[in-house]
Amino acid sequence: MPANEIQDVQNLFKKHFHHTAPQIVRAPGRLELLGNHTDYNDGLVMALAVDRYITIAAEPRADGKIELISSLFPQPEIFPANEFKKNPAAPWADYVKGTLEQLQKRDVHFSGFSAAIHGTIPMGAGMSSSAALEVATALIVRKLYPFTLTLGGLGAAPTRDRKGELPALTPAERLEFAKICQAAENKFVGVQCGILDQVSSLFGKDASVIDIDCRTLTVDNPPMPGEAVIVCNSGVKHELIGGEYNELRQNCEGAAKKLGAKFLRSVELHQVEAAKSQLSPREYACAHHVVSEIARVVAGARALREGDHAQFGQYMFQSHASSRDFLKNSTAELDVLVELARQHPACLGARLTGGGFGGATINLVKHHEAESFIAHMTRESEKALGIKMTPIVCQIVDGAE
Ligand code: GLA
Repeated sequence: MPANEIQDVQNLFKKHFHHTAPQIVRAPGRLELLGNHTDYNDGLVMALAVDRYITIAAEPRADGKIELISSLFPQPEIFPANEFKKNPAAPWADYVKGTLEQLQKRDVHFSGFSAAIHGTIPMGAGMSSSAALEVATALIVRKLYPFTLTLGGLGAAPTRDRKGELPALTPAERLEFAKICQAAENKFVGVQCGILDQVSSLFGKDASVIDIDCRTLTVDNPPMPGEAVIVCNSGVKHELIGGEYNELRQNCEGAAKKLGAKFLRSVELHQVEAAKSQLSPREYACAHHVVSEIARVVAGARALREGDHAQFGQYMFQSHASSRDFLKNSTAELDVLVELARQHPACLGARLTGGGFGGATINLVKHHEAESFIAHMTRESEKALGIKMTPIVCQIVDGAE
């Protein structure tokens, strides 16, 4: 972990708790590269872990309390280590509490701790700051009160090496952590999200794509082309708890049921068309999007393998159009940002990324022309939308550690 990041979170810890913390973890945010709302349909999705993080510094404490301080919210949050209740004054702490609750359900034993949470993932931008907070929470508990996750259960406690380090997480353990964190969001926070965000934060690989098959829960990390990945944040807050997300999911599940499938992953586009009259207009639109989007992920992965970045970019544009026209989870601002991006000759592809209903676009840009693209987007978005937007260039990084 870079020294400046360690220093930032330790300074925060020190300010409140008056000394430095013995343990630090960090979990990256993610960008959804292709595959919008495919994950909970048992589908395929491509993501990137990016160099924006939730970092937690922590130490155990003897009074059985958990005390959280955050660089982003002024009020500390304190609660007993066995009692997880929502506090409307600190909704950000729900992601921590939900994760702790799920760990406890898995019989993970832990007691109190003090923790400082430092975040560099823009909130509400669709870059999964919440999943990164869940993942960092689970990993800091492992560092403070070591345990080993096995499929659905617990293994023998791991031993620290001579430097005090725990063994590296295996892919199987990373997957169990992802499931725990997803359950925290489903059960405690109340968003029926899929597993994309949590898997991405845990399975990122430097300069590589995270290809996730949500049916088999397998992950592959093919190389990511060396083009620039640039995020343009519309500034319109994306608020998944608002219910739109759960509504999409219900319509997808309703459509699958009427089509005689458990999940839309098993359905083909001609079946959706043939059954159009049996589906509600919303079910039809959601199914049309999901089924064609999963096919686009297959085609997109092939284009990347073949080194055809321009073709891959076209799939990104098509994905955005499908989210906009069928899923209807885009916003006027996101549509403008995608159209402005398309006007720049170095832009290979652009689309909304993540849940939608606000948030940001992801842009794939020829790497030697990134500066010119950034200048174009900054200038044109101010003219078109009246917003002061600073595009973010993202580096693709390893998963949580
Ligand atoms: C959010 C959810 C993910 C996924 C995306 C849309 O990020 O948390 O599970 O459904 O939206 O693809």
